[in-house]
Amino acid sequence: MSHTITKSMSKKVDKIYNISVVGLSGTEKEKGSLGVGKSCLINRFVRPLADDYYTDHISVLSESDFAGRVVNNDHFLYWGSTRKVDDGAEYVFRIVEQTEFVDDSSFQPFKIGKTDPYYKRCAACKLQSAEKLAYICKNQLGLEHEFDEHLMPDGRFNVDGFICVFDVSTTSNRPIEVQLDHMHCILTQLIRTKKPITIATTKNDQAYKPFAAEVEKLVLKKDLKERGIIPIVETSAHENVNVEAAFMSLVHLIEKTPKNRSKVPSYADAHRVV
Ligand code: GTP
Ligand code: MG
Repeated sequence: MSHTITKSMSKKVDKIYNISVVGLSGTEKEKGSLGVGKSCLINRFVRPLADDYYTDHISVLSESDFAGRVVNNDHFLYWGSTRKVDDGAEYVFRIVEQTEFVDDSSFQPFKIGKTDPYYKRCAACKLQSAEKLAYICKNQLGLEHEFDEHLMPDGRFNVDGFICVFDVSTTSNRPIEVQLDHMHCILTQLIRTKKPITIATTKNDQAYKPFAAEVEKLVLKKDLKERGIIPIVETSAHENVNVEAAFMSLVHLIEKTPKNRSKVPSYADAHRVV
């Protein structure tokens, strides 16, 4: 559930949303030569300014970086919180990214006890990690004290909704069928949680149109549309198009906002007005 807090200095009421961003992750064998764009999407949402936007977020790490307080021996990152205003209301978002960290010596995912495969693990609604620090950028790993240190509050994160990322650009060594299969498995697990889900297609600045058509077909599959068709928002983190709209679309699902108030423009229309 979302939480309501009242600021002591003003009468304004804020809501806090805890959002988990998921999407095909793993070694190069699974995800191909590039990731699907989870980190960039979150970076642009949490820290939109050009100077704070990094395009290079590694997931292949040394053992000591994996054990440092940012990664904290988990396969997820806490990206901290951001404040947004929409329709006169003020919201606070806290974001986690569910990814898979790979050991830079063995090129295998780090083992942390008995772990489920990514598509199951990423659907977790209750995350815990004591003293975990918010991630800022890859240079922070190993130099945590030189950067702002924000803790994940209480070492806990209860997910209110999911953004599921689908890359519509062409990436070498990642056939579209592989991404579609993973997406289907992930969405099946997310639906079981009964939490709201929005799909964010990523890298629309380099979209290959037939891939976008494939994800539109996927959400119409019988087993995926049982609880309503999952909305798709066309984003580009690099161009800063529809990034906030994707997260707000999820808020509208959480809050059950009437459909006519929550319409999101296509990438092409949104790009025209940026
Ligand atoms: P892992 O966590 O390693 O699974 O990857 P990820 O899903 O977090 O992907 P990440 O955000 O790190 O992006 C992977 C690559 O895609 C990087 O080289 C980014 O520069 C590129 N990329 C991300 N977003 C965009 C975008 O909006 N447009 C374009 N053209 N490239 C993008
Ligand atoms: Mg990432």
